[in-house]
Amino acid sequence: MTSTKLVKDSPIIIVGAGVFGLSSALHLSQNGYKDITVFDKQPYADNAYSTTDGADAASADFNKVMRMSYGDEIEYQRLAFEGIKTWNAWNDGIRSSKTEDLPRGLKPTDLIWNNCGFLRMSIDGKLSDIERATLAGMTREGLRQTQFVLGDAEDEKRARSHFRRGEWEKKSDPFGRKKQGKELVGVFDSTAGFVEASKACIWAMHLCRRNGVRFVLGEKEGQVSTFVKNGTGRTIGVRTISGAEYHSELLILAAGGWTPYLFPSVSPLLETTAGSVVYFQLPPKDQAQDLWDKFSPENFPVFAYGGWSKGHGIGGFPRTEDGIIKIGYRGTKYTNYEDVQDPITGVKHRISVPKTKYWPQPHDPAITKQAVDAVKEVVREAMPELAAIGITGCRNCWYTDSLDNSFLVDFVPNDDGMLICSGGSGHGFKFLPILGREVVKIIERPGEKNAYGKLWRWRIKEGGPRNGLEQGEAGPRNWKKQVMATKDDWKFRENPSLYMESYG
Ligand SMILES: Cc1cc2nc3c(=O)[nH]c(=O)nc-3n(C[C@H](O)[C@H](O)[C@H](O)COP(=O)(O)OP(=O)(O)OC[C@H]3O[C@@H](n4cnc5c(N)ncnc54)[C@H](O)[C@@H]3O)c2cc1C
Ligand SMILES: *[C@@H]1O[C@H](CO)[C@@H](O)[C@H](O)[C@H]1NC(C)=O
Repeated sequence: MTSTKLVKDSPIIIVGAGVFGLSSALHLSQNGYKDITVFDKQPYADNAYSTTDGADAASADFNKVMRMSYGDEIEYQRLAFEGIKTWNAWNDGIRSSKTEDLPRGLKPTDLIWNNCGFLRMSIDGKLSDIERATLAGMTREGLRQTQFVLGDAEDEKRARSHFRRGEWEKKSDPFGRKKQGKELVGVFDSTAGFVEASKACIWAMHLCRRNGVRFVLGEKEGQVSTFVKNGTGRTIGVRTISGAEYHSELLILAAGGWTPYLFPSVSPLLETTAGSVVYFQLPPKDQAQDLWDKFSPENFPVFAYGGWSKGHGIGGFPRTEDGIIKIGYRGTKYTNYEDVQDPITGVKHRISVPKTKYWPQPHDPAITKQAVDAVKEVVREAMPELAAIGITGCRNCWYTDSLDNSFLVDFVPNDDGMLICSGGSGHGFKFLPILGREVVKIIERPGEKNAYGKLWRWRIKEGGPRNGLEQGEAGPRNWKKQVMATKDDWKFRENPSLYMESYG
């Protein structure tokens, strides 16, 4: 098959400088590949992956959950666990750098991986099956002591000696349920926390550059418009919007939510969907010191309020250093079906594509009323201080779901010049330091697939449920069928003074 021709100085092109492209570039360069060029339509060297400055990739964000709890998906649990070592090393690398040696957007005091812990709270009074599977998986790997089941006498006892004084009380019950006489069921994962997404991408790009990886960035120079094929249909390069052509021995397509748009043949496997995110900006620190303290990563965990994808599908983070609290809704992931012309064959396809604040045209961001209502319900119940502030911003975060939520890292059938590296499915970020290690193995030994090569292979499933992909445009998640929230919906109807009284 492939890569018989791929040698260490073969030209490798990577389309996309998000998690999947960066991690591939980093590990290829660490494995001696010398001619790697990454293209991205985003001017990341200028906007530093900032979501307020034009960056709309899934990887560009304040924070993402870092967890190794994965139900019975032991391969992902292991990969996340191994990745923690590098996350720690990256923190050290940044901390020991001089300001002038760091790229724009990073400073030595930045902690890109924060082990603040993750509370997975149940709202129906019992631990879910996936929670039980996670505990079983942790036990099997000798990691059970890292998990704390709320209310379990032994775990509670262990918690008292594991955590800083007072930390366990705050982090295991951040919404003060016990005091209110409410039930508190769930698991606290002490190995987890969050990563500062945009900053982690800046650092990974910096490491790539240090290894000699080239970046071609920006709307014209960096935006790939089509792929160049030879007479027998093998991919041999790309053309950019500027009209320039570049030759590749291997092309890695890692364009996140834009992957099916650029390469519609992948649409039986991948579907572009949106998760919804809202922000609450805390008042200035000197006016609300108590809130800044309460929601700080020292006192407040990452949380899932009744499971990530089930129930409300609500989860959130401690405040950022700028006092922003992000809460996400993934109860429904939306699709946006449009006509897309295959840039190579000219054939028209009807597939879901991103619709971000900046792409295809700049527009005012709106998320669905369904998402806003779900967030408000949880905020009213659990964080009434935030109701007094009201929602201050929102975002649709577009990514590629695969038909089974596992990634896609494999050669395109009948084209050993192109590898798809995508399908992050809402959980890819945490693997930034380590994903590329497996990508290199898949590239170098495509015939002998290991556990990851098998999980991430090119796979088609005829019929049956496919992670919602089977619904297509007719499905209920179609964007065009949603009611969008207005700015008025962002407010909470209750009298805000009520909250100011009780929460100061
Ligand atoms: C709401 C939400 C919450 C999430 N939460 C978590 C979480 O808590 N934990 C976790 O681990 N993961 C999480 N994820 C998933 C994670 O963000 C993704 O799996 C990961 O960031 C995907 O990376 P990517 O490189 O595939 O795509 P992207 O980050 O989207 O990168 C693709 C890149 O391709 C570029 N591109 C597109 N078209 C072109 C073109 N024509 N030419 C050149 N470049 C192009 C884009 O500009 C972009 O930079 C979440 C995702 C979302 C949306
Ligand atoms: C296209 O590239 C492949 C692999 O290098 C090669 O086997 C094939 O002959 C090429 N086709 C043409 C028409 O050049």
